[in-house]
Amino acid sequence: MTALDVVIMAAGKGTRMKSRLPKVLHRLAGRALVQHVIDTVTQLEARRVVVVTGHGAGDVEAALAEAGVESATFVRQEPQLGTGHAVQQAVPVLGDDGVVLVLNGDVPLIQAGTLQALIDRCGGKRLALLSVDMPDPTGYGRIVRSGDAVWSIIEHKDADERQREINEIYTGVMAVPAPMLKRWLAKLTNNNSQGEYYLTDIVRMAVKDGADVVSMKTLDGVQVDGVNSPLQLAELERAFQRRQAHTLMDQGVRISDPARFDMRGKLECGQDVEIDVNCIFEGKVVLGNGVRIGAHCIVANARIEDGARIMPFTHIDGERLGVTVGEDAVVGPFARLRPGASLGVDVHVGNFVEVKNATMARGSKANHLAYLGDTTVGERVNYGAGAITANYDGASKHRTVIGDDVHVGSNSVLVAPVNIGAGGTVGAGSVITKDTPAGARSVSRARQASIGNWERPKKGGQ
Ligand code: UD1
Ligand code: CA
Repeated sequence: MTALDVVIMAAGKGTRMKSRLPKVLHRLAGRALVQHVIDTVTQLEARRVVVVTGHGAGDVEAALAEAGVESATFVRQEPQLGTGHAVQQAVPVLGDDGVVLVLNGDVPLIQAGTLQALIDRCGGKRLALLSVDMPDPTGYGRIVRSGDAVWSIIEHKDADERQREINEIYTGVMAVPAPMLKRWLAKLTNNNSQGEYYLTDIVRMAVKDGADVVSMKTLDGVQVDGVNSPLQLAELERAFQRRQAHTLMDQGVRISDPARFDMRGKLECGQDVEIDVNCIFEGKVVLGNGVRIGAHCIVANARIEDGARIMPFTHIDGERLGVTVGEDAVVGPFARLRPGASLGVDVHVGNFVEVKNATMARGSKANHLAYLGDTTVGERVNYGAGAITANYDGASKHRTVIGDDVHVGSNSVLVAPVNIGAGGTVGAGSVITKDTPAGARSVSRARQASIGNWERPKKGGQ
């Protein structure tokens, strides 16, 4: 097997994005465009992956480092004098043998199978170009043939009327033997309408040298579509989401409308999972057998066990700590589960209830307007409407522990650190600052008083 080096060009400005963010850092399905390309390349087992940065180089390099990309070598292209100039910058870190695969950092949906087929066509001895037919090829480099043989690539701006009628365009992806590439790059000039060093000029050189040039046409336009504008970014996002939705549906997941489904990360689903419209999944999410997700939910970094139901408009984000929802639990509508929320079997968390860094054991319920932060809740607890754990004293967080079978009355405040003994009852409206004994009824509100024959003040003061 010939060694493979990959060059990803990511130095361009991306003027049409009209953004301060370098183009290749714009996100598709939650990941930077260039990261999609790097992820795909990982499947090819390359010897080296070189990313050419220029515009916003520091930002691009920092973002990829932060995303944990360790496999790439960065070279800088400053100033940016064209695609040929970009690849020239990579030459010192490329091997002298093997094959070089050139990719664009702003073409996120290219697939490994397509790249491997192109590398195979190159076979260590041919210049292999990836092309596609475009109904409107304006702006692209055209594949010019003489008979069947590829003769050159002519850039749109340098093409004449007849050449502009060619619909087969160069996608920006090529596989080329390293020694040939190095030889041809050294001879590039910028005598063209844009005054740029065109990588595509090596085709003409290859033909002149008598080297084989082949073009492999892909029928899947989405794979080679680049992102130049917010509209194209949104279109590719939809295409990507549709692809992901179809993959899940092929596995049996019932997605109400694949056009209203967004997955920005990994989603693992058991059998008989149902997902209603307008849900967003982020990070790593696992849905067990028979899980149903209602409309308009956001679920990030969470594990939802078998049979659990997430009702509409629920927001779950486990961030780094994760969230777990136990078997047959019911969450929402309008619930919010934050990092470290861990709900047991049959737990119910209802509308406008926020749970953070808290465990609720089997069968416990917090159904309305409540907050549970830094709390351990036992089994079969009923946590009343409007009850709050006051977990933060302005400096540090403290824990509340609620034993099994406790009943916390509505509108209570449990001031942490505090323990509510098992089987106890907290009277509605209490502010609990001291531990309560097991089995006791604890009340801390003022005793009710009634003043007889009370006359309300009247308007005008009489
Ligand atoms: C290039 C091809 C064209 C092809 C098109 C496909 C050349 C000369 N032309 O067009 O035949 O149809 O891609 O999209 O290669 N870049 C750098 N440094 C530079 C210039 C560009 O890194 O100095 C990067 C860009 O960030 C981008 C890629 O190269 O990722 C392509 O650049 P772009 O300007 O979009 O393509 P064109 O040169 O117009
Ligand atoms: Ca250009």
